[in-house]
Amino acid sequence: MIISGKDLSAQLKAELAQQVVAFPQKYGRVPHLVVVLVGEDPASQTYVRGKAKASQVVGIKNTTIARPSSISQEDLLALIAELNADEGVDGILVQLPLPAHIDESKVIESIAKEKDVDGFHPANVAALWMKQPCTVPCTPLGIIRLLEHAGVEIKGKRAVVVGRSQIVGLPVAKLLLDRHATVTVCHSRTENLPEVTRQAEILVVAIGRSRFVTGDMVSPGTVVIDVGINRDEVTGKLCGDVDFESVAPKASCITPVPGGVGPMTIACLMENTISCFLRKVQK
Ligand code: GUN
Repeated sequence: MIISGKDLSAQLKAELAQQVVAFPQKYGRVPHLVVVLVGEDPASQTYVRGKAKASQVVGIKNTTIARPSSISQEDLLALIAELNADEGVDGILVQLPLPAHIDESKVIESIAKEKDVDGFHPANVAALWMKQPCTVPCTPLGIIRLLEHAGVEIKGKRAVVVGRSQIVGLPVAKLLLDRHATVTVCHSRTENLPEVTRQAEILVVAIGRSRFVTGDMVSPGTVVIDVGINRDEVTGKLCGDVDFESVAPKASCITPVPGGVGPMTIACLMENTISCFLRKVQK
């Protein structure tokens, strides 16, 4: 079975749009998301356009602020300080990666934690790991939503996460643990990786390498979540971190690329923006 993130994200966005449509009367305005894009990375430009389009569908106000890759860290921090102070801004997202001369951690830490729709601020990361109310990072949240929608039982299952990034691997491992999976996190230096991935009943792959996980690394009946968004060097088409052709016949369910996790990330960003807005206006 193919788990369609495209369909589920459309459904989620439609539900969110219904909620947002009542906001002007209830709260006098709609949520406002500001996306900051530094430089001209084509992948980042595509993601930022996707976020603007989804905002339109949901009825959220979206402002995209583009700055050249030559922007100084000081100027970027000053821009964020302005957005933090702006009462009319509910969510701030700085598209990553940033140019090498800018300290990514400094930038993330400078975003007001109440406006951190990515859930990357240290205060949100700490809250997640301490099971306190927080903004959950969009991609991990989208993965859980996909699993729940597909009727996958998480409790008691062996989950293997390939990749240990702050954005996906670590937080999704925590969310799976919180739902009582037995979780193994592995990475590029794990010895006998295929042996580990074959233990998985739920396999989440976020390692950032084209078709890294192949059929021989997956046991029959596994639920496979492919977080990768890579460009095939030969065809120029998008491909995942999972070799769909060899893995799909063995999987019980699998997410495609494109149309799997990607659209769910954006739908969850809309959800996080609305949550930040509501926390603010309902205070
Ligand atoms: N770059 C890749 N994924 C993400 C994400 O989830 N948020 C931000 N801000 N940048 C990204």
